[in-house]
Amino acid sequence: MALNVLTPWLAPIIWDGTYDIDILDNQHNSTRIGLFVFAVKKYIRFLLPFLESAERYFMVGHNVTYYVFTDKVNEVVKPKMADGHILQLHDVVADQRWQDVSMRRMEILTVFTKEHMPNEIDYLVCADVDMVFNDHVGVEILGDLVATIHPAYFLSEKGAFTYERRPISTAYIPHGHGDFYYMAALYGGKVDEIYKLSMACQKGIVEDKKKNIEAVWQEESHLNRYLVYNKPTKVLSPEYLWDTILPNGELIKKKRFLAVHKNHKEVRN
Ligand code: GAL
Repeated sequence: MALNVLTPWLAPIIWDGTYDIDILDNQHNSTRIGLFVFAVKKYIRFLLPFLESAERYFMVGHNVTYYVFTDKVNEVVKPKMADGHILQLHDVVADQRWQDVSMRRMEILTVFTKEHMPNEIDYLVCADVDMVFNDHVGVEILGDLVATIHPAYFLSEKGAFTYERRPISTAYIPHGHGDFYYMAALYGGKVDEIYKLSMACQKGIVEDKKKNIEAVWQEESHLNRYLVYNKPTKVLSPEYLWDTILPNGELIKKKRFLAVHKNHKEVRN
């Protein structure tokens, strides 16, 4: 099976073997990278393993700032961190519905990418907290606007993508449009690009709310909509988002960022 290494608009799709990390590390020796993560309510339990695994595999040797948003700042256990790594803890309200917690991230991103991050970092990576780094994730993932192919859909026909299909939603993507189905558990880019992205998604979320609708996969639907019309400059293969319960794992040589198995019902409520 041949897996694509270029999109139709000639953006690289990053797989193991497509890059030389020594060349890229040299190009990025003064780059400052942020990692944005939400750990609200019961999701706080995922934070320490997430951060510890990040210390082991994420941007090793580079300047990293963790932007952690939680309603339980006092409960955060700090991991042992490498020199030059910074942990910022920020208070955030805990919405009742997990869907709202998930979407709240876009609102927070619009504020931080405008006001704080431009002076602190060059690139921002946004991730779900119920994940662990399991292999190298480095500067090869940096780019102006970067999104990750959803691991359940990397072999799917476009017709099977779970885009929002109701025209009434601002996240609507008509059949025949769209390139990949991206997962919101890992995306990133230059700070100003994530500002534009989060502004657009947040605007869509608010407009939908006014009409009393919610996109089928919340902010992931809005993210996908944005990326149809604002093509990512780099695409990450499912090596960068994997779940060991998925089929076709034999095609994925490196499983770099893995979903933590959990009882969804228990942890969301
Ligand atoms: C599921 C995933 C959801 C959402 C959905 C999209 O596998 O758990 O978060 O991404 O796919 O179809």
